[in-house]
Amino acid sequence: MLSFNQLLWLFCSLAFILLSQCTYAKYLKSSCNTCKQIADNFSKGLDRTKKQNFGGGNTAWEERALSKYETSEIRLVEILENLCDSSSFDCNHMVEEHEDHFETWWFKRQNKHPDLYKWFCVDTIKVCCSTGTFGPDCNACVAGSERPCHGNGVCDGDGTRGGNGRCNCDHGYKGEFCLDCMDGYFNEIRNDTFSLCTGLVSLEQGMHLNHLSHSIPYTTECHTSCKTCTGLTNEDCEKCKTGWGEDDEGTCLDVNECLNDPTLCKEDQYCLNTDGSFSCKGCDELCSGCTGAGPDKCQSCAPGYQDTEGTCTDVNECEQTDAVCTAENQECLNNKGSYICICASRYKEQEGVCVKIPEPEENEAEIVKRPEEHEDL
Ligand SMILES: *[C@@H]1O[C@H](CO)[C@@H](O)[C@H](O)[C@H]1NC(C)=O
Ligand SMILES: *[C@@H]1O[C@H](CO)[C@@H](O)[C@H](O)[C@H]1NC(C)=O
Repeated sequence: MLSFNQLLWLFCSLAFILLSQCTYAKYLKSSCNTCKQIADNFSKGLDRTKKQNFGGGNTAWEERALSKYETSEIRLVEILENLCDSSSFDCNHMVEEHEDHFETWWFKRQNKHPDLYKWFCVDTIKVCCSTGTFGPDCNACVAGSERPCHGNGVCDGDGTRGGNGRCNCDHGYKGEFCLDCMDGYFNEIRNDTFSLCTGLVSLEQGMHLNHLSHSIPYTTECHTSCKTCTGLTNEDCEKCKTGWGEDDEGTCLDVNECLNDPTLCKEDQYCLNTDGSFSCKGCDELCSGCTGAGPDKCQSCAPGYQDTEGTCTDVNECEQTDAVCTAENQECLNNKGSYICICASRYKEQEGVCVKIPEPEENEAEIVKRPEEHEDL
């Protein structure tokens, strides 16, 4: 048995190895990038120092001096000194480390190997690979170095000593080889080495363009009912999307979930079928269960409401033949779905009964007047 300490040590070492491999892979990709910039800046340096310090005359002396300068150490130093930005550590480090290689190339190799990038970065210090290849041994990317990923994706580590050579497919494509189409896209052209998946413009736009002119190139999406397709309409689906089902002729049609399963929604909701889906909507508050929106789609009316010619309406409890507020000096007040009993005017509730509100004494004059007012009403 391993002790806890041994296990911990093992775990940490593994984590360290994984982490360092990960940073090493990134380092490999970035060194190639640095090297590429150095090679680019070397070319720029060559341009910049062309005919430097010479007036462009054609004297024999100038001709001779120029051809000497072209391959001189002075020119090389001039170029090397301006290769890197002073702030770029990686660049300066790489140039210093390989200064002798630049000299070798400058004096002995440049005629036979004019491409500094290939000679230096790929073949000599081996931080890059040629295009279409990747990794320590510059192996071919998935689907080959000629057209990595069949032209429909990017090969991981392409042109560097890092990466795994697998494909990161462009939008619309999928699969190890980027030959398959993403859902909603279809293969317009396809063979073993070539695939064109189309989809960008909506069906309506595509149809519109098609009517205008057959020569206008356009791309189209599958019909909304298709998961995958071979053409434009719901008859061209290979597979239907969820919420759509194939009929006998293979056409994808909307499935009415509400009819198929009446228990999809809660009791106080109704089911609304939509293209490819459904939703549950709340019943009208006058309903107790319903088949649709509004008080005329109730299965039965909520308590306090009654069915009046197919629509649920409020019951006026106060106008029923049997009085509902029966205590003395009580009045009935109807409201939505119910009623309340209140004390009549000039009465107030006291310990459950309606008692007369005592008249204030200083208002004797008004008390005399009030019975007359009453008679007018
Ligand atoms: C290459 O040269 C340009 C301009 O001289 C400079 O801005 C750039 O940083 C150089 N590249 C590197 C890696 O230093
Ligand atoms: C596959 O299709 C492409 C484009 O149409 C064509 O250039 C290529 O020759 C075809 N390859 C094969 C093996 O048929």
